Amino acid sequence: MSEQRQSSFGFRDVDATEKVALVRGVFERVASRYDLMNDLMSAGAHRLWKDATAARLNPQPGETIIDCAGGTGDISRRLARLARGAQKRRGGPDAKILLLDYNAEMVKAGIEKGSEPEMAWGVGDAMALPLPDACADAYVIAFGIRNVADVDQALREARRVLKPGGRFLCLEFSRPITEALRKAYDAYSFKVIPAIGGAVAGDRDSYQYLVESIRRFPDQEAFAAKMRAAGFGKAGYTNFSGGVVALHHGWAV
Ligand SMILES: C[S@@+](CC[C@H](N)C(=O)[O-])C[C@H]1O[C@@H](n2cnc3c(N)ncnc32)[C@H](O)[C@@H]1O
Repeated sequence: MSEQRQSSFGFRDVDATEKVALVRGVFERVASRYDLMNDLMSAGAHRLWKDATAARLNPQPGETIIDCAGGTGDISRRLARLARGAQKRRGGPDAKILLLDYNAEMVKAGIEKGSEPEMAWGVGDAMALPLPDACADAYVIAFGIRNVADVDQALREARRVLKPGGRFLCLEFSRPITEALRKAYDAYSFKVIPAIGGAVAGDRDSYQYLVESIRRFPDQEAFAAKMRAAGFGKAGYTNFSGGVVALHHGWAV
């Protein structure tokens, strides 16, 4: 008899297959209001966290870069512009930025928002990337991995598609580093965010899920341990906004 793999949907324990369907539903419902909601919920701070992530990835001419769970393309656009800037300064071939997301609605909303010449868009699952081994110089996943039913499998897939020495970056909500900040952040996220989701996106439940999924996600050290277990070297992280968000980084070894 096969055993169901367990996962979480917010604070509920569900099997992994059910989580995939539930999370897909969340992002289908929020796709059209996704960018506006990000600005409202983070007071614009998500733009700075994403700028810092793209700068840290430091895309180079000729590189192949995967933006996994790329949604409406915020990270890919930043990477494309940085790669073009580097190419103007030093020459070399175009970089290729491949955005993959398993939700066609998010991809569609992103394409409507606008693309860059270096970007390609596709539908694909972080747990089974439609890509060959060792094809990418860098892989980034921003606010995506906590939605994936099996985080360890997504990390193994990232490792598989990276060339030896390839850079891995994961931007994700994490644990505030002080008790005072944790309390303030808890109050804000459980009271204010679902209310904004209800008022602006007409969908309180989806934003309640997003807040709960943040609490269920491994903290900075626990995620670094998962990275090491998946085959990443020099696994470390940089806290942003007092640990509300962390940028995890490592190398495929
Ligand atoms: C919060 S959005 C982040 C989008 C974008 N990276 C950004 O930072 O704006 C999370 C995205 O993860 C995608 N996602 C969730 N599970 C996925 C999976 N297993 N494979 C690929 N994408 C997934 C969702 O469809 C959604 O677009």
